Formats: sequence, C-alpha cells, structure tokens
Amino acid sequence: MKKARVGILISGRGSNMMALVEAARAPDYPADIVCVVSNRADAAGLDFARANGIEACFINHKAYASREDFETALDNCLRSRRVEIIALAGFMRVLTARFIAGWEGRMLNIHPSLLPAYKGLHTHERALADGAKTHGCTVHHVTADLDAGPVILRAEVPVLTDDTPDTLAARVLKEEHRIYPRALATIAGSLQANTST
Ligand code: GRF
Repeated sequence: MKKARVGILISGRGSNMMALVEAARAPDYPADIVCVVSNRADAAGLDFARANGIEACFINHKAYASREDFETALDNCLRSRRVEIIALAGFMRVLTARFIAGWEGRMLNIHPSLLPAYKGLHTHERALADGAKTHGCTVHHVTADLDAGPVILRAEVPVLTDDTPDTLAARVLKEEHRIYPRALATIAGSLQANTST
C-alpha cells in the first residue's frame, strides 16, 4: 500500500516529531515523514530532521504582514511537497479557520491533557492545582475550535502526591511519544484505504 505523505509542524524541542520519525522507519508503517516545518529558526527539531535526511523548512511568521500570508506560505510549502496529512507537534501558532478547513480530517495535534479537560496552555500546572488524580495526553483532529476536535487516542497517567509540573510533564510526555505514532498510523491507514478504493 502506498504510504501517506506527512508534514510535521514544530516550534521547538520536537520530541514528538522525533517519535513520529522513529516510528516511520518501520517498513510497514503506513506513513512517510516528508518534511518538518518550523516557524522558528532555532527549533532544535530542525537539526534532528536534517540529520535524518528529512527536508527541514523554516518559515518565519514574523516575515509576513498577516497571519493569512504566513499560512499561505505554509500551505504552499506543504502542498508543493505533496503532503497529505499534517501532524502538529508543539507548533505554537494558532491557525485560522480558513487554513484548518483546507486540511479537514487530515490535520492532527497532540495535547498534554486528557481532553476535554485543560484545553490551552499550562495543563500540568492546572491539573496539579486542581488536585487531579489522573492526567494524560490526547491526539485529536484539528478543528477551528482550539483543542476541541474529535479525539483519536488518549493515554492516562497517575498524578503522584509529590509531583511537580516537570515530573508530571515527563510522565505525560512518555505517553505522548507512545500514542502519537499509533494515532498517526490509524489516520494514515484509513486515508490510504479510502484513496485506494
Ligand atoms: C508537547 O507536550 C505537546 O503535547 C504540546 O507541546 C509539547 C511539544 O513538545 N502540544 P515537543 O516539541 O514535541 O518535545
């Protein structure tokens, strides 16, 4: 079966991107990571992509007059590389409804909470402040409502009594690296099944 062509968008560390790249090395993985795009030149993940033979693109959002102009450049970059699925992995720019509509059903995100709990930022701090007993992460489809698209996979972790935001984040991150490749495989597999019939 033909593999789905995936573009990963990052803004920083890129550990989820790395987990996706590692998973995609398996011959039977249903997706190929064809490019990694960052809106920040210093994103550590860009070096990892280059070192692994994946095209790494820097598109500086500050170089564009508007969010729409930035997104047009992003869209052109992805479509010219025949990307079929976008995986957001710590991409810190809010995308407009227009851009999202152009990728409906073909754009995923990983969020560090058990959605619908704790949409937005500082999820670990907020879970601890609430005395939550469990926390986790969610891979979901991206829709125009922030962190509210249909859930693909979630993973739960316990919150321990001596947790700090950092220790909790580390426990959640391990699960992120486990479920994101699985969720992408599910979506890539179903996209390919639909296009080959
Ligand atoms: C992760 O916690 C992810 O859930 C959130 O941003 C963080 C990105 O980390 N969306 P990394 O760049 O993948 O290491």
